Amino acid sequence: MHRCGPETLRLIHRAFEPNDAAVFYRLNSHPEVMRYTCEDMVTSEAAARQAILDYPDFREHGYGRWACVLKSTEQIIGFCGLKYLPEFDRVDVGYRFFPEYWGQGIATEACRASVAFGFSELDLPLILGFVKAENRASRRVLEKAGFRDCGLTSVGDVCAHRFECHRQPQGDSHE
Ligand SMILES: CC(C)(COP(=O)(O)OP(=O)(O)OC[C@H]1O[C@@H](n2cnc3c(N)ncnc32)[C@H](O)[C@@H]1OP(=O)(O)O)[C@@H](O)C(=O)NCCC(=O)NCCS
Repeated sequence: MHRCGPETLRLIHRAFEPNDAAVFYRLNSHPEVMRYTCEDMVTSEAAARQAILDYPDFREHGYGRWACVLKSTEQIIGFCGLKYLPEFDRVDVGYRFFPEYWGQGIATEACRASVAFGFSELDLPLILGFVKAENRASRRVLEKAGFRDCGLTSVGDVCAHRFECHRQPQGDSHE
């Protein structure tokens, strides 16, 4: 069970705990943060606490979306991580950060680390990313993390770009 995810230069990744409900609520009810996510906003701190308690991914799949803790302040500044999508029988990467941390390469750092973790620790052959066309910053993050834009597709009733990142084959360096 990977309740702790990768560590990067600036971030620690770990599962959300019930005590994180206040910051989880602030993040997931922030209009700018939620603008392109196609998810319902969390409506209260109590609902956030319940969502953390009910989150099934670590129990069911052994990994999930991790809270991103900025090492320099020990504050949670967003989340990033992997999620199994039964409708695709694949895993995707997802992330969300408070606006005051945008534009510093933090999402790219977190996304790259989640993808590397998925390949090395979970042995995934392929990781997906889904992003609405208007979410240019997120599309750019996936490009910088090595994803290829495979064009528009339907995800439920939402139209989004499907991005793919394939694990590089091992042992094809010419030693
Ligand atoms: C998307 C998000 C995670 C990006 O976080 P971030 O830490 O700012 O990302 P990074 O700094 O690593 O990279 C952002 C890139 O997008 C670019 N970018 C930002 N806004 C852009 C825009 N409107 N148009 C084009 N590119 C844009 C930046 O210039 C940067 O690229 P560069 O390094 O080539 O200059 C952040 O904006 C966020 O949390 N948004 C709300 C939640 C969300 O939409 N999550 C994704 C759902 S699919």
